[in-house]
Amino acid sequence: MSRRVDQGVRLLHQHPAQQPRRQLSGAGRIIGSAGSAAKVRHLTRELGFDATFDHHDGPVGEQLARAAPDGIDVYVDNVGGGHLEGAIDVLREYGRIAWVGAISLHSGDRSPAAPRNLFEVVHKSLRLEGVLVRSHTNLQDELEDFLVPHLRSGRIGTDTTVVQGFEHTVEAFRGMLKGGDLGRMLVRLDG
Ligand SMILES: NC(=O)c1ccc[n+]([C@@H]2O[C@H](COP(=O)([O-])OP(=O)(O)OC[C@H]3O[C@@H](n4cnc5c(N)ncnc54)[C@H](OP(=O)(O)O)[C@@H]3O)[C@@H](O)[C@H]2O)c1
Repeated sequence: MSRRVDQGVRLLHQHPAQQPRRQLSGAGRIIGSAGSAAKVRHLTRELGFDATFDHHDGPVGEQLARAAPDGIDVYVDNVGGGHLEGAIDVLREYGRIAWVGAISLHSGDRSPAAPRNLFEVVHKSLRLEGVLVRSHTNLQDELEDFLVPHLRSGRIGTDTTVVQGFEHTVEAFRGMLKGGDLGRMLVRLDG
């Protein structure tokens, strides 16, 4: 990214990294959305987010605007729907959206209503780009060079929720969609 990121927003619900701090990412501020008071606390206290909100507490755009009164420059989207719409509202001119996932569309809400403000992408000269992990395998070495020392030093850690037993796979998947997990949801197959 060529431009300095003054205000970034991460709407990652349980980022696997324990400390996605702005010092590591280069962002001026990092704002996160999560689905419970406990997760919101975890994002600020344990993971180093500068501001957070519970997406059940009101329209995302309004909560985000309160958290970032001057707007945001970057939005990483794992949710789609109302989260994407809210971020488009709050993004500043020439802002960027990295669209990774749309979990709100997997968990019941299949309404294509949002984002209703898509033309704001033109008004504000925003750039929206779909990001598929499999398209960036060439960056694996660079990622490891950056991340492994931080993992080894403990500056970055991982959050996982482990469900024991293959027979509980569907339950684990449904739990993940409902937000019952903290961090990466894993199913352990061995005894
Ligand atoms: N582009 C790629 O290469 C790529 C790779 C992997 C995954 N994905 C996509 O990324 C998205 C996230 O997948 P993931 O496996 O990484 O899951 P994840 O980040 O672990 O997300 C699970 C969390 O999403 C939240 N959530 C569920 N329904 C929601 C809703 N309606 N609104 C807001 N938040 C909701 C819940 O947290 P809360 O309790 O905080 O609400 C849940 O714990 C999916 O759409 C997936 O297909 C894309």
